[in-house]
Amino acid sequence: HGTSKVNDKNHLEIGGVDTVELANKYGTPLYVYDVALIRERARSFRDTFKRLNIDAQVAYASKAFSTVAMIQLVEEEGLSLDVVSGGELFTALQAGFPPERIHFHGNNKSYEELDMAIKNKIGCIVVDNYFEISLLEQVCMENNETIPVLLRVTPGIEAHTHDYILTGQEDSKFGFGLENGQADKAVEQVLSSNYLTLLGIHSHIGSQIFETTGFLMAAGKMFAKLKEWKENFGFIPAVLNLGGGFGIRYTEEDTPIAVDKYVEAIIGEVRKHADKLSIDIPEIWIEPGRSIVGDAGTTIYSIGSRKEVPNIRQYLAIDGGMTDNIRPALYQAKYEAVLANRVLDPVEETVSVAGKCCESGDMLIWDLPLPKANSNDMLAVFCTGAYGYSMANNYNRIPRPAVVFVENGEEQLVVQRESYEDLVRLDIPLKTKVID
Ligand code: LLP
Repeated sequence: HGTSKVNDKNHLEIGGVDTVELANKYGTPLYVYDVALIRERARSFRDTFKRLNIDAQVAYASKAFSTVAMIQLVEEEGLSLDVVSGGELFTALQAGFPPERIHFHGNNKSYEELDMAIKNKIGCIVVDNYFEISLLEQVCMENNETIPVLLRVTPGIEAHTHDYILTGQEDSKFGFGLENGQADKAVEQVLSSNYLTLLGIHSHIGSQIFETTGFLMAAGKMFAKLKEWKENFGFIPAVLNLGGGFGIRYTEEDTPIAVDKYVEAIIGEVRKHADKLSIDIPEIWIEPGRSIVGDAGTTIYSIGSRKEVPNIRQYLAIDGGMTDNIRPALYQAKYEAVLANRVLDPVEETVSVAGKCCESGDMLIWDLPLPKANSNDMLAVFCTGAYGYSMANNYNRIPRPAVVFVENGEEQLVVQRESYEDLVRLDIPLKTKVID
């Protein structure tokens, strides 16, 4: 997929660059990102809205993968940006991202984070709860500023790939309950605020979703409320944000639909409801993370030890694992992989790929068909671009890998590999004991 192909050395090539050469140059594990594919994904969202002549903002959910270079790329592609912490906001500002296109999410934004957002004049805050309404008003007052907000509502729908759960009691840590009166009260509060202007409402129903149904159900529930709010408060939303969650194909079990299909279905549904309410179709905002970067990332590992459990299993260990990709351990996520240096060699055995952490659960892939591999080989694991680097950690004091962008035959290191010195940089030794 993307610009990945096999070159004449039987090596995996991405963006016109040999991944084995990249691994030799920068070491392993190594995250390699196909920049052309990120651009293509970003454009497909934007182009669909443009083609259908709908005002929209496509905000890249930077939690999926946030680094200065990535944010610069998002800027180049004209997307907006969803941040969920002071750290993600700082990264965006460091990258020179236009603050007016930044949206700030989260269920427990601190005073300092809100103050940073207001001082930097970001575009919008997605307000999550009553505590935040008061805190944000206080911050705005102290800064003598006003801020556009969206209210995050919990429409009582949870989507998990193909399944939808209607959660009647809206049991979620996020947002205002849509059907228990919380959202109504929040709308009233924000409409009467001197500091907050109510742009509209937001919902996010889940992640790695393969169908349009959940988005349409959420839109329906939101419009039922918008009808009441129009009648009761004269409120007409300028913006309707339907969140992220568009699924990608990790393995052949996954059956996502094309980006334009999600967008077309959402627009159709919103238009229908807006017409019924006799209002203009609001600006539609969405927040894709995984579907922008997920399949653009590939991780290259070096293969090390092998352990045979006779008649049961071959364990093949790589030089990373749950430190650079926690998703298999955390969600039983599945991945596909090939030998980066012998892509088309015939399959000779089935192995289970183990990470190097001192933890039995640190298994990257179970039962992977591969050529007979040894410690001269490299493994390329696909679709690691979202929630790989961004959830990487230093368990077992393992340094985080480097990140390389490739495009049109050129490579660019965008995150350095962590060093052992980096690992102890914030450590403070015990005070020297003075014995008298
Ligand atoms: N908007 C909101 C409000 C969200 O909570 C999320 C994801 C997104 C957008 C982006 O969702 P995406 O398009 O990437 O599915 N660590 C998990 C995923 C957690 C997603 C949390 N929220 C994973 O590795 O699968």
